[in-house]
Amino acid sequence: MYKAILRPILYLFDPEKIHHTTFSLIRFMNRIGMGGLFRSMYHVENPVLKRELFGLSFPNPVGLAAGFDKDAKLYRELSNFGFGFIEIGTLTPKPQAGNPKKRLFRLVEDEALINRMGFNNGGVEEAVMRLKKNPSGKGHVLIGGNIGKNKATPNEAAVTDYVIGFEALFDHVDYFVVNVSSPNTPNLRALQDKEPLTQLLRKLQQQNAEKLKRKPILLKIAPDLSEAQLLDIIDIVSDTKIDGVIATNTTISREGLESPARQEVGGLSGKPLTERSTEVIRFLCEKSNNAFPVIGVGGIHSPKDALEKLNAGASLVQLYTGFIYEGPKLVKEINKALVKQQQA
Ligand code: FNR
Repeated sequence: MYKAILRPILYLFDPEKIHHTTFSLIRFMNRIGMGGLFRSMYHVENPVLKRELFGLSFPNPVGLAAGFDKDAKLYRELSNFGFGFIEIGTLTPKPQAGNPKKRLFRLVEDEALINRMGFNNGGVEEAVMRLKKNPSGKGHVLIGGNIGKNKATPNEAAVTDYVIGFEALFDHVDYFVVNVSSPNTPNLRALQDKEPLTQLLRKLQQQNAEKLKRKPILLKIAPDLSEAQLLDIIDIVSDTKIDGVIATNTTISREGLESPARQEVGGLSGKPLTERSTEVIRFLCEKSNNAFPVIGVGGIHSPKDALEKLNAGASLVQLYTGFIYEGPKLVKEINKALVKQQQA
């Protein structure tokens, strides 16, 4: 129904407007009591789907990637679509408007998106208020908190921004993601270099060690890193003893695209990213000897794409663009394929 009826209508409108309209629609449908119906339609409950990772118990390995519910406005409702975990953010200490519109583009021929949102978000405190009002709670979905820095904060002062996000969210999320890989905040990706990244992660680990019970910290990386840079990442994870890596964010590559919007500036997600992100996952897992868990994300549009990432060594997967193109049934199809594979 989604692909045949709803999607063609949604595609008539500007993608960012549709994102907000869809949000309101999902909220409305849940308010009038359809949440249970969605749960029964999309949830696959089976013990073989459970994953124990970083001391957390994931009901299934399919998550919603960061950027969809940046401000923690809809995670409970979205959990009804069958996700095992939902990542909120990227959140910055201060609210910021992001880049001027238009900043999100559909590349229909390539089953892709280009975005240059630029960390538009209401700021971490506002998200914390929502999380407090609406705790994910027992039996609900696990929440990841993806943190970043404000555009106006220079890289030399970036650590402070990440610490603010970490401290504010600490009691309200299950794991953290340090995002240094968005292409839409000028110079952010320079924080992926060995020295600043080691400093940043060390500082967060210090903060973490002071807590009664520490929380898992993961690093989200770009797919555009070279092999030498990926080897550095393996060293940094081992040095700083963080809990894992999310591979990958969007790419700045434009290889092989057909859609007219391909010349837009920003991060490319969806189908054209599938292979590259799987390659990065395989490289990290092989070269590190599976020393840490990897969450695989990038161009998952079918159960086969998800299985390839898991076979390449990922422990969990996430999706964003595939959710837009395929609708919520994708989550169910992946989970069903995993159950089937386990039983074969
Ligand atoms: C994103 N993504 C993203 N990632 C992140 O860490 N913080 C963010 O704020 C955002 N924002 C965002 C906005 C939009 C519109 C898109 C399409 C993507 C990246 C996302 O989480 C994911 O890593 C990539 O999109 C690759 O996965 P998919 O989309 O190919 O499944």
